[in-house]
Amino acid sequence: METRYLQFNDAHLRCAADLIRRGELVAFPTETVYGLGCDATDEQAVKRTYLAKGRPSDNPLIVHVWSKGQIPEIARDVSPDAQKIIDCIMPASITVVLPKRKIIPDCVTAGLNTVAVRMPRSQQARDFLRYCDVPVAAPSANTSSRPSPTTWQAVKEDMDGRIAAVLCGSPCDVGIESTVVDMCGEQPLILRPGIVTADMLEELLGKKVRVVTDPKEKVNSPGVRYKHYAPKVPMALELEGDEQKLKNLYLKLQAEGKNPVLLVENPQNFPGFNVYCIGQTDREVSRNLFSNLRALEKNYGYIIASFSSKTAFAQSILNRLVRSASHNVV
Ligand code: TXA
Ligand code: MG
Repeated sequence: METRYLQFNDAHLRCAADLIRRGELVAFPTETVYGLGCDATDEQAVKRTYLAKGRPSDNPLIVHVWSKGQIPEIARDVSPDAQKIIDCIMPASITVVLPKRKIIPDCVTAGLNTVAVRMPRSQQARDFLRYCDVPVAAPSANTSSRPSPTTWQAVKEDMDGRIAAVLCGSPCDVGIESTVVDMCGEQPLILRPGIVTADMLEELLGKKVRVVTDPKEKVNSPGVRYKHYAPKVPMALELEGDEQKLKNLYLKLQAEGKNPVLLVENPQNFPGFNVYCIGQTDREVSRNLFSNLRALEKNYGYIIASFSSKTAFAQSILNRLVRSASHNVV
């Protein structure tokens, strides 16, 4: 299949929306990562999404809307707390898990009786969704297990020839995926951390929010179980900013012919090394994280990343880094 590369103008948005309504797959930008969209009410289109990504069929998809008015059409029994999130935070980088309505086929939710609903903050995303005017199921637009795409060029790397079109929008501003919060029980439960943190939700709801931290904990978000975000080359992660340790590991790997590269907070402290900056602030680290991994895997044989920030948002970044490194924390 020849993939079309579309721009953000009226004619191309119409074309993208027509493709969606005909059951085709179209990748589009959001403020978090690029999504691989299809009509969430079209079972065949949803199945093609799993195929295009090579995604296990027991890992459910998020349903995207452009208007809050669409939410009651796909979800039911929205609790007062969930409604508060919808009213006060959305559109934002948050996904709310709610009891689902029948209009959403079981293959979207991997058989769960809940649906994950997201209204992106990105104007480009909402423009595209408005043209579609059907709920759009969209996982991140990467091949399963790869770093999520944060530019249309990264989508092209993984999806060229496999999907009908890519909407070529801006690079993603947040850079890691939305916070997923399960609002079906009494206590809100964060299944996947993101830029909307537990503190922010606690402040809004005036109650304790639980965060799933142990990946072995049996939770209703199958996605957190799988290998994820991994570059094509091995990766190690250091968490204290211990520069001597980083240098020692680099020199050892270099002596073994592994062609290592450092991705650190202060590259100026590593003269003579192959070294890149992971970012000066949490926002910069998260914005560039996946594109850094995709860039470095092309030229180096081993990525050594260092990240020592301890803020609430840093925990969400760490969640991705640890899995990118397949838990190889040194
Ligand atoms: O920022 C994002 O959320 C991006 C953009 C494209 O919107 N999307 C994204 O989708 O990250 P994906 O498929 O890569 O991750 C969806 C996550 C998975 O961990 C999945 O298990 C979880 O959401 N999920 C989806 N439906 C669920 C449900 N009904 N209950 C619990 N978890 C669910
Ligand atoms: Mg994903």
